[in-house]
Amino acid sequence: MYDVVVIGGGVVGLSIAWRTAERGLAVAVVDPGPGSGASHAAAGMLAPISEVAYTEEPSLRLGRESLALWPAFAADLSAAAAVDLDLRADGTLAVAYDSDDLAVLTDLAAFEESLGIAVERLTGRECRRLEPMLAPVVRGGLLARDDLWVNPRRVVRALLTALARAGVAMVPGRASGLVDGGVRLTRGEVVPARQTVVATGAWTAELGLGLPIRPVKGQIMRLRGPAGLLTRCVRGLVRGTSVYLVPRADGEITVGATQEELGFDTRVTAGGMWELLRDARELVPGITELEIVEFQAGLRPGTPDNLPVIGRIRPDVVAATGHHRGGILLAPLTADGVVAMLTGEQPSQILKECDPGRFDGGNH
Ligand code: GLY
Repeated sequence: MYDVVVIGGGVVGLSIAWRTAERGLAVAVVDPGPGSGASHAAAGMLAPISEVAYTEEPSLRLGRESLALWPAFAADLSAAAAVDLDLRADGTLAVAYDSDDLAVLTDLAAFEESLGIAVERLTGRECRRLEPMLAPVVRGGLLARDDLWVNPRRVVRALLTALARAGVAMVPGRASGLVDGGVRLTRGEVVPARQTVVATGAWTAELGLGLPIRPVKGQIMRLRGPAGLLTRCVRGLVRGTSVYLVPRADGEITVGATQEELGFDTRVTAGGMWELLRDARELVPGITELEIVEFQAGLRPGTPDNLPVIGRIRPDVVAATGHHRGGILLAPLTADGVVAMLTGEQPSQILKECDPGRFDGGNH
């Protein structure tokens, strides 16, 4: 009998398992391939300020709260696993391709300033001074100095090492449902649990819990070239379409991502890759010289209001899913909140926004 069984081994589920095990509870994680879902496709931007849209004030608040937890979370995890997470703190530069794109960024800056958040408005020339590889056409931008970014695959590797060191059991298999006192796997076996955490991301619907979570496909591409082509994350609006370029210390640049409502479709398409390359090249023409090392599609767990679902759905079951575009960013906040729920402590007030009860028609 485990104290806690976490269904789902993405960054969210693994972070919960790690923080729970640190509290001395006996923990198991059920997943057919830990870290192989959305976490494997993620770019790792910890960028609540530059990723926000006007209507998303609650998600901005959540993101900023979790961003503040990231440096300590990363330091603890690096120490627990002896893995460098490639956490970077050079901020995000959001740039505009044409005057309509610049108008959108200007409105975004006004919205953030109205909430008391400092963003720096830059001219095109100032953007190029920060990032000389930007195209002359870039009209202007915003610098969000507090945004961070991290390598999500290293985070997964570190979490798996930390879990092994903490004695967490990894149960390979897919959960088919919750039963009294445990989790049933598709092969029939029941993993016994006092409490269960549902961290199944885009696959949450398979458990039949009535949570309105749908897959939102994102295609990304990894390029490699000389290190230092970009020094910070560059997010761009190109004729109204959003694209981002996330550089790593070894010269890799992740370019992402499409947003497609196609169900459980993870095909990488010519159109998806073309769109990313077209827009990324408008902003940073030099990327055409880079080697393509990988392309991939992942499934974000979308919710009707773009906020995650974090909270108790049954007396012995806590949900931690539906993180949509923010699973990596929100992992520390989610883990702390879920550990509080599992141990009878008071979770952060801000998680009230994520209460599963906000959806009508759920059968939980
Ligand atoms: N957070 C980046 C994405 O979802 O594409």
